[in-house]
Amino acid sequence: MKLYLKVLIGLAVAVVTVFTQNNNCILTGNSLGNLTSIQQQCTEIVIENFTVPANQSLSLRNLRNGTTVSFRGLISFGYAESLGNLIVVSGTNITVIGEPGHLFNCRGERWWDGFADNNGKLKPLFFLAINLRYSSVSGLRIKNTPQRVIAIQSSQQVVFSNITIDNFEGDRNGAHTTIGFDLNESSDITIQGSQIVNQDDCIAINSGTNSYFYDNHCRGGRGISIGPLGNRSSNVVRNVHVRGCTVVNSADGIRIRTFANTTGQVLDITYENIQFQNIFDYGIVVRGDLRGNRPTGNATEGFTIRNFTISNVQGWVRPSAISVFVLLAEGVASNWRWSRVNLTGTRNINSCTGVPPNSGVQC
Ligand SMILES: *[C@@H]1O[C@H](CO)[C@@H](O)[C@H](O)[C@H]1NC(C)=O
Ligand SMILES: *[C@@H]1O[C@H](CO)[C@@H](O)[C@H](O)[C@H]1NC(C)=O
Ligand SMILES: *[C@@H]1O[C@H](CO)[C@@H](O)[C@H](O)[C@H]1NC(C)=O
Ligand SMILES: *[C@@H]1O[C@H](CO)[C@@H](O)[C@H](O)[C@H]1NC(C)=O
Ligand SMILES: *[C@@H]1O[C@H](CO)[C@@H](O)[C@H](O)[C@H]1NC(C)=O
Ligand SMILES: *[C@@H]1O[C@H](CO)[C@@H](O)[C@H](O)[C@H]1NC(C)=O
Ligand SMILES: *[C@@H]1O[C@H](CO)[C@@H](O)[C@H](O)[C@H]1NC(C)=O
Ligand SMILES: *[C@@H]1O[C@H](CO)[C@@H](O)[C@H](O)[C@H]1NC(C)=O
Ligand SMILES: *[C@@H]1O[C@H](CO)[C@@H](O)[C@H](O)[C@H]1NC(C)=O
Ligand SMILES: *[C@@H]1O[C@H](CO)[C@@H](O)[C@H](O)[C@H]1NC(C)=O
Ligand SMILES: *[C@@H]1O[C@H](CO)[C@@H](O)[C@H](O)[C@H]1NC(C)=O
Ligand SMILES: *[C@@H]1O[C@H](CO)[C@@H](O)[C@H](O)[C@H]1NC(C)=O
Repeated sequence: MKLYLKVLIGLAVAVVTVFTQNNNCILTGNSLGNLTSIQQQCTEIVIENFTVPANQSLSLRNLRNGTTVSFRGLISFGYAESLGNLIVVSGTNITVIGEPGHLFNCRGERWWDGFADNNGKLKPLFFLAINLRYSSVSGLRIKNTPQRVIAIQSSQQVVFSNITIDNFEGDRNGAHTTIGFDLNESSDITIQGSQIVNQDDCIAINSGTNSYFYDNHCRGGRGISIGPLGNRSSNVVRNVHVRGCTVVNSADGIRIRTFANTTGQVLDITYENIQFQNIFDYGIVVRGDLRGNRPTGNATEGFTIRNFTISNVQGWVRPSAISVFVLLAEGVASNWRWSRVNLTGTRNINSCTGVPPNSGVQC
């Protein structure tokens, strides 16, 4: 009797093990039909050699607490013109892993037309993390996205590590607004050890608190950016720490930009140990005069940019580029401490406005 029971229990355990670990938790092929049941049943999900059908999202919005999602092999996407999201991830205590040898080949060249995401062809976003908490995303290898790569919205305590974004081919082929990381209303987001090759901001922090950007390499693109801020539902960026990054072959290196005639706050910002190479517009630019997305030359009051530290920024900007430029209304900026900023390029002596006293800023 006892033996019989043991065998029965053993069999049951074996069956359950096979069910939870096996093919039922692997999504492969090109149908999303099983994705809902996989999310309900599995905490170890594998997505392998999968093609997301055109005009659909790989929607991982119903993951169970503690789920790991691993990507293997080639992940590709059907073509449709839309502003949707190719991949969406939400949940708590989620681990997303790109396994060695996998690749997201978005074939963004099908969308690239020299226009922004919402002009010309409508272009989908690659990866939206929304309401993602206490989670990590690591090792993703991403090639040729239609527009923005990773948008992080309304999320908390998420670490992105070792992400490789390669939109290099977009330089010659009309890629636009391929922002690497786009942060919005999130807190405690860390991005580290990543390589970003693109045509727009390496990272754009639009709102939120406690954003950390460590040991990343930015190439192409428009640098490590805060904003442009103003005119959104939230216009406060607080506590940003950027450390140990390089910015190469980029229009700008570091930038903080706000729209004229809007209000908001940029507080507690530190950039340290940054290397530039071949910057062609501005090394460091802080300006409060945008209208639309363009500079007007007239900065306005309405923003506070307080406690802004820059320490140890070295490297070269092109001779024609301006190494440091600040255009703010008087009284907007306070408590800045810049030191060891050593950049080549044009020094536009006395061209800066709104720089607070004793800040160490040298224009
Ligand atoms: C996956 O889909 C196939 C065919 O559509 C079905 O037979 C199978 O039961 C599904 N598996 C799960 C885990 O839902
Ligand atoms: C995925 O593709 C790779 C390379 O073609 C192949 O080795 C592997 O067996 C595929 N996996 C599945 C589940 O089909
Ligand atoms: C699918 O198309 C509709 C209509 O154009 C659009 O609203 C939606 O965002 C698209 N979804 C995806 C994922 O592309
Ligand atoms: C998070 O998920 C892991 C499994 O991936 C689990 O071991 C751990 O207990 C979870 N943590 C919490 C606080 O739920
Ligand atoms: C999910 O995980 C978090 C920590 O990662 C834990 O605090 C929370 O209680 C868990 N929620 C549920 C519903 O298990
Ligand atoms: C990121 O890569 C570094 C260096 O290869 C490695 O030490 C680290 O464990 C990786 N981190 C994650 C979360 O994969
Ligand atoms: C920022 O997030 C809010 C909601 O959290 C959303 O409505 C808005 O579209 C997002 N903006 C951008 C630029 O992503
Ligand atoms: C702010 O938004 C309003 C309404 O959408 C628009 O009319 C105005 O031009 C915007 N201002 C700026 C500075 O972008
Ligand atoms: C700011 O608003 C004032 C008053 O409406 C207007 O005259 C000025 O042109 C605006 N500045 C910019 C840069 O849009
Ligand atoms: C200034 O900002 C840094 C982060 O960039 C923060 O650690 C520090 O506490 C802030 N100092 C004050 C006086 O708020
Ligand atoms: C900038 O300010 C000057 C002088 O106040 C004004 O004549 C001009 O129209 C303003 N330009 C814009 C774009 O607001
Ligand atoms: C500034 O950098 C140049 C090389 O880019 C170097 O030769 C020079 O010594 C540096 N100056 C200081 C004060 O660090």
